[in-house]
Amino acid sequence: MPPLSSSSPLPSPFSASLPCPDAVVAALRTAGCVFAEDEAELILATARTAGELLALVDRRVSGLPLELVLGWAGFRGLRIAVAPGVFVPRRRTEFLVTEALAQAPDAAVVVDLCCGSGAVGAALAAALDRPEVHAADVDPAAVHCARGNLADAGGRVYAGDLFDALPDTVRGRVDILAANVPYVPTGEVPLLPAEARDHEPLVALDGGADGLDVLRRVAAGAPDWLAPGGCLLVETSERQAPAAVDAFTRAGLATRLAVCEELYAHVVIGVREPGLG
Ligand SMILES: C[S@@+](CC[C@H](N)C(=O)[O-])C[C@H]1O[C@@H](n2cnc3c(N)ncnc32)[C@H](O)[C@@H]1O
Repeated sequence: MPPLSSSSPLPSPFSASLPCPDAVVAALRTAGCVFAEDEAELILATARTAGELLALVDRRVSGLPLELVLGWAGFRGLRIAVAPGVFVPRRRTEFLVTEALAQAPDAAVVVDLCCGSGAVGAALAAALDRPEVHAADVDPAAVHCARGNLADAGGRVYAGDLFDALPDTVRGRVDILAANVPYVPTGEVPLLPAEARDHEPLVALDGGADGLDVLRRVAAGAPDWLAPGGCLLVETSERQAPAAVDAFTRAGLATRLAVCEELYAHVVIGVREPGLG
C-alpha cells in the first residue's frame, strides 16, 4: 500500500465520516509497524477528527516514529512531550530512575544532565517530595522541550556543555545526578534502527570511538557537584559496563553496576562517600 496522504485516494474505510479502527491497523501493519494494534489504539485515542486521524496515520506510515506522530512518549506513567530533533525517551531508561530512587529516596536536589526531553528529571520530580530540579543539555531543541516537561515541577533547564551549564549554586549539593549520556560508538551509529538514525540528532547518540567519551567526562566532573552521599547514575551497555565502572572508580566514587534483564538495561551507580574531600 502506498503511504496514505491527503492527495492520494483513501482506502474506503477512511472515507467514512467515522474512523474505522480496522483500517488504521491494516494501514500500519502494511507499513511494517510490528505493534500495529497497540499503535492504532494510541493514534485513535489521540485524533479528535477523521481528518486528524488521517494525518496521523499518514505520518506514521511514512516512517515518523510513533512518539513524534503522537507528540508524546510514555515514561514511568507520565506523558512526556517530544518534538522533532529531540531524543525520544526509551523505556529502558525507566530503570535508571528506579535505581536513583532506590539509592536516594529522600533526594532534595536533582540534576538531569544530558536531559533531552527532560523525561528523567520529570519522573524523578514526580516520585520525590518536591525536589529542586535542574536539567541541562547542549542542544537548544532539547532545552526547549525539557523546559515544557519540567515546568510543573518548577525545574530549571540550562543550555550548555555538561557541568558548564549548571549554576554554581548547585555545586556540592546534588543528591541525584542522572545522566543518560549518548553512548553509541561512532562506528555503530549507522547500524542503529532508521527511526533513531533519521530522526534523532547525532549529538544525542554518538558517544565517540568506544561510546564512552561523554560518560568519562561526566564521571570525572561529578564529585565536585555531588553532595556527600549523593549519587551519579549513567546508563551504559553490557559491553561498555566494565570500562564505565572503571571511569567511575577512577573518579573516586564507590561504584556498582545494576542490571535489569527484562529491559536489557545497565546502569552504573557511583556514590560520593561522605568522607570524600
Ligand atoms: C541519549 S540522549 C538522552 C536524553 C534524555 N536524558 C533521555 O533519557 O531521554 C543524550 C542527550 O545528551 C545531550 N548531550 C550530548 N552531548 C552533550 C554535552 N556535551 N553536554 C550536554 N548535553 C549533551 C544530547 O543533546 C541528548 O539530548
